[in-house]
Amino acid sequence: MYKFAVFGNPIEHSLSPKIHALFAQQTGVEIEYSKILAPIDKFPQTAQNFIDSGADGFNVTVPFKINAFELATQHSINAETAGAVNTIKVDGNELIGENTDGMGLVTDLTQNLGIDLGNKVVLILGAGGATRGILLPLLQQQPKRIMIANRTASKAIQLAKDFAKFGKTCGFGLEKIKNNPVDIIINATSASLDGQMPNIATGVANNAICYDLMYGQQTPFMDWASANQALKVFDGLGMLVEQAAAAFKFWTGKQPETQTVIKTIRALND
Ligand code: ATR
Repeated sequence: MYKFAVFGNPIEHSLSPKIHALFAQQTGVEIEYSKILAPIDKFPQTAQNFIDSGADGFNVTVPFKINAFELATQHSINAETAGAVNTIKVDGNELIGENTDGMGLVTDLTQNLGIDLGNKVVLILGAGGATRGILLPLLQQQPKRIMIANRTASKAIQLAKDFAKFGKTCGFGLEKIKNNPVDIIINATSASLDGQMPNIATGVANNAICYDLMYGQQTPFMDWASANQALKVFDGLGMLVEQAAAAFKFWTGKQPETQTVIKTIRALND
């Protein structure tokens, strides 16, 4: 029996226990997977208690992904470039830090939604932790260019510089977005959490595939995309399930089938 959990604050809303229970059922792997609310200033102690109780691994969500990076004793390349960890595997005395967010997004885009990122122009809105977490796996798909636009231009410029060694990137302020359409727009801002949509040129959505990393509701970005002739509009529920599947495989070696899980979780969430 594997012992897993997800840490966050808040954590009550987390769908991870349900998703992992479905993976376990399907693969015949026995797991227990709990939700653990860590006090904001006590993530390391709370995680250590769980490790000492015989844990095999855990997921980490907002706001502890950087704390989890600091806790890990080893880091995958994804975790290293993201500067954040959402999955830890306990391996003897080692805590191996991985970040499956970007792989989850890429798997959802390419395998579930049938979108080839090769040679595409991608516009990412936002330059915070969420953007840092997805850039490497996106660049590994060899898009023509990734443009990062942020309310605070300097953060987008810095992020584009940090990732320039992995592919073609550029960064600028939201106001520099032109009416020229792009192939794919990814909303990685936290604006949706506040019921807001960054104020940008509407023409850029024309015929673009628009993807919000948020899930579980029709976001202002999704409304904006639909109202401005986007080709297709998606939320991040598929990414949520795929990042969980990558974590499950990292821990157990078993690759779950995700299509039915995405359907089940969407039905639960509607
Ligand atoms: P996360 O880990 O979710 O990425 P974050 O690191 O705090 O969270 O980053 C939030 C991102 O959303 C930032 O890019 C932020 O822009 P700033 O860098 O200018 O703060 C962006 N953001 C949040 N609210 C926004 C809004 N109302 N309009 C535009 N961008 C917004």
